[in-house]
Amino acid sequence: MAPKEWETHNPSGSKRVVVTKNLPGSRWLQTLIKAGCRVELCTATDVLSVAEIQAAIGAQCDGVLGQLTEDWGDELFAALKAAGGTAYSNVAVGYNNVDVAAATKHGLPVGNTPGVLTETTAQMAVTLTFAAARRTGEAERFLRAGKYKGWLMTLFLGELLWHKTVGVIGAGRIGATYARMMVEGHKMNLIYHDIYPNKDLEEYIAAYADFLKSRGEEPVSCKRADTVEDVLREADCISVHTVLDESTHHLINATSLALMKENAILVNTSRGPVVDEAALVAHCRKHPNFRAGLDVFEDEPQMKPGLVELDNVLIVPHIASATRWTREGMATLAAANVAGVLSGYPAWNQPDILSFLEGESPKAAPSIVNAKELGIPLFGD
Ligand code: DGY
Repeated sequence: MAPKEWETHNPSGSKRVVVTKNLPGSRWLQTLIKAGCRVELCTATDVLSVAEIQAAIGAQCDGVLGQLTEDWGDELFAALKAAGGTAYSNVAVGYNNVDVAAATKHGLPVGNTPGVLTETTAQMAVTLTFAAARRTGEAERFLRAGKYKGWLMTLFLGELLWHKTVGVIGAGRIGATYARMMVEGHKMNLIYHDIYPNKDLEEYIAAYADFLKSRGEEPVSCKRADTVEDVLREADCISVHTVLDESTHHLINATSLALMKENAILVNTSRGPVVDEAALVAHCRKHPNFRAGLDVFEDEPQMKPGLVELDNVLIVPHIASATRWTREGMATLAAANVAGVLSGYPAWNQPDILSFLEGESPKAAPSIVNAKELGIPLFGD
């Protein structure tokens, strides 16, 4: 195993915090330094193995900022606990790579970074939807290959989504924001499935429909479907925004793909294993007018055989949250989670998470997913 590159910030800090990947911006580092931390940062770009992280934790470590590419299970939480650690934060909103039950068993708080990825990720889902609908990947490859010999009426005909139906599976923060972008921007009707009704979203779209009517325009509609299958059957484009757990693994599979319209568009910015990628490859091969836009893959960074050759699949390398503001925000929230726990602060329970990004941060850990289980007091209690 080749040794990784590490750099140390604030070497005289009294609490040792390990950061497993370089992070953008400087506020995250300032947050940790202000909390009295010595920060040991891995600057290598390859994914650290469990053994490498364990070695980095060593005999004494107070906290870790880890990545969604790492396997944070019992082994690592036991190592962190044994090293005297009291805090872990994923630098991500999703935490399917973290065994929260194992962390809780070791008495370790787990942080995540909600609230700063919402619009950025929804925007990427919109980008993938239209790039797939309008075949921009294929068209660009064609142009760059010098194949464009002049304007043709039949060149790269795609789909017009205006006033059609958008489907959303999982209408939480990101799914609902994507839905609004599609409904407001493109006057689409919405059909969504979520185990919980999103009343806010429904009311917003109803009010928007009234506004359109008041202008003499065709209104939009919003319907909550009882099943995922209803969404798949009805929608012209479908974006997946679920968490990854046992209930959503291969939620989109050969059977569900067969329910979709021949020329439908499937977008996934959630987690790769929510879609059975081999089944998607087979479906896209068989249905050239079907299109997919993928930000995430089942065995990241690998792709299932055949995916990369498909012209009707648009792929980007897990960059849905990759705007400077969002990535700096994620780093800051993760640092504030670890710094907050190490400072003995309560867990934040207010809607305004953005107050951690500028000026004096609240004296709280912004988002601790197992705060309740660990009996961590809530801000203001
Ligand atoms: C997350 O934070 O879970 C995202 O997948 C990162 O883009």
